[in-house]
Amino acid sequence: MNREHFVYDFLAAKKAGKEHSEEEIRTFFSMMMKDDIPDYQISAWLMAVCIKGMTFNEVVHLTLAMRDSGRTLNLDSIPGIKLDKHSTGGVGDKTTLVIVPILAAAGVPILKMSGRGLGFTGGTTDKLGSIPGFRTGLSIQEAVAQVQRWGGAMVSQVSDLSPADKRLYALRDVTATVDSIPLITSSILSKKLAVGADVILFDVKIGSGAFMRSLDEGMELARMLIRVSKAAGKDSVALLTNMDEPLGRAVGNALEVREACELLTYPHSADRRLLELCREMVANGLTLAGKKKSINEGYEEFDRILNSGDGARSLERIVSAQGGDPSIVAHPEFIPSTDNIIEVRAERPGYVTQIHAGECGRIAMAIGAGRSKLENDVNPSAGIVLNCHIGDYVERSQVLTLLHDPMGLMNDEILARFRSAIVIKAERTASTPLLYGELSSLNSTEEECIP
Ligand code: URA
Repeated sequence: MNREHFVYDFLAAKKAGKEHSEEEIRTFFSMMMKDDIPDYQISAWLMAVCIKGMTFNEVVHLTLAMRDSGRTLNLDSIPGIKLDKHSTGGVGDKTTLVIVPILAAAGVPILKMSGRGLGFTGGTTDKLGSIPGFRTGLSIQEAVAQVQRWGGAMVSQVSDLSPADKRLYALRDVTATVDSIPLITSSILSKKLAVGADVILFDVKIGSGAFMRSLDEGMELARMLIRVSKAAGKDSVALLTNMDEPLGRAVGNALEVREACELLTYPHSADRRLLELCREMVANGLTLAGKKKSINEGYEEFDRILNSGDGARSLERIVSAQGGDPSIVAHPEFIPSTDNIIEVRAERPGYVTQIHAGECGRIAMAIGAGRSKLENDVNPSAGIVLNCHIGDYVERSQVLTLLHDPMGLMNDEILARFRSAIVIKAERTASTPLLYGELSSLNSTEEECIP
């Protein structure tokens, strides 16, 4: 095959809206992985995909070609139905830190690989990095052995999973081609399929602090994730959840670990929305992994594990197995924090009608909680603690939030931006639901599972 002609014709075909065959996609990716295609041609193809889209079959072939571009793990030595979980990314989303230990305590094996945070959404690896001594860089053998022993492990993603995604994502980021459902689906799923769990639980976030801004877009992504997973032989459930305001009270690495430990140790004082989402995810995870027959049975199991302290003990075991200090679970106050805390007070009485999640994430990033480039460091104790939610009534001068600013980066401009992210009005507006809906591939043929 003539290389020049193949790549040129491949790009021209997508520009004309034609469907690529499996063989063409595999050839393109194998050339790309041999460094036979320059960035400008890959970028041109990404733009054509963004504009012309892809058929369902193309997305399946693309996802599998990307999965096969690197290492694929074999988790067969772990008994039981292995579950994996993926959130499309939000602000204050610390659900992994809660649901991994609870699912592990319920007998659902879970080897959770996560990335570092980029942009205004946090990464679980950074959050775990704020636990003194905690090692996220376990080898695959260590992680598998830990799941065999304790049911769960939370580790950083190994670098040779879906290397094609790494190459594409770096180009998508700078060519305005991130927001494409086929490209997002293949990016997420190529990594999940390479990890090799049996079933996958997705949390597709929708709102100002998420990739997907509208419910329609979120539904489209959820539907594609479920259908492509099914085509790859995996059952899955996707929850569609609200990300207009940050999830829970804390935004920032150590602050989020602290909130997750507090939820497991003192569930009765936990943030209601965070608790509700964790409960929903665990109940769905338990049915997906065949541990429970119905969602109601799943809720009961969640409540039992949480309220008995089994969830907290499970997190202690995981933290200890990964070299961290397990006493932080019962004593979250041991997690490193800063004394430089700035109070932000309400300028008028009224109802909170907006806490802009995206802006909260960007402000947390500006004071050190996140990074705009992967090579930057984060400061574990930087972040925001929210004392209010959308719908709450607040008095004038009431403390709305605490800004944890260990490096003294706060200035008037950031403060003004933060103030305008929280809107207080005389009239109360209806609060939006946390859970918009869910899609599942369970007990359905591929077509039937699409509402
Ligand atoms: N998360 C990913 O892993 N990839 C995307 O393209 C978007 C979100």
